[in-house]
Amino acid sequence: MPQIIFLPHEELCPDGAVVEAETGETVLNVALKNNIGIEHACEKVCACTTCHVIIREGFDSLAEGDELEEDMLDRAWGLEPDSRLGCQAIVADENLVVEIPIYTVNMVSETH
Ligand code: FES
Repeated sequence: MPQIIFLPHEELCPDGAVVEAETGETVLNVALKNNIGIEHACEKVCACTTCHVIIREGFDSLAEGDELEEDMLDRAWGLEPDSRLGCQAIVADENLVVEIPIYTVNMVSETH
């Protein structure tokens, strides 16, 4: 069973977490099941970017994102080459290290 290491995020998981994942689950669902409350404003249908995560290790094990995901990601705050939408990134059979960005577009628009 692959594991996901979530790096510490001040609000969502201050100490970080190491959790078990099932192949075929999305990174977002694995987080939510483990009480890591990553935002998912569009209810996981690839229509927002609030579930943006950065895959620090294991990125290449994930099936590539489709065009819609790429388009949405372009609007995400803090985009990086290893960025994915958590609701579209499906765990394969390798362990992952996942960073949750400090901000989402929602927060940025609220505070600016
Ligand atoms: Fe909206 Fe993932 S929850 S794109």
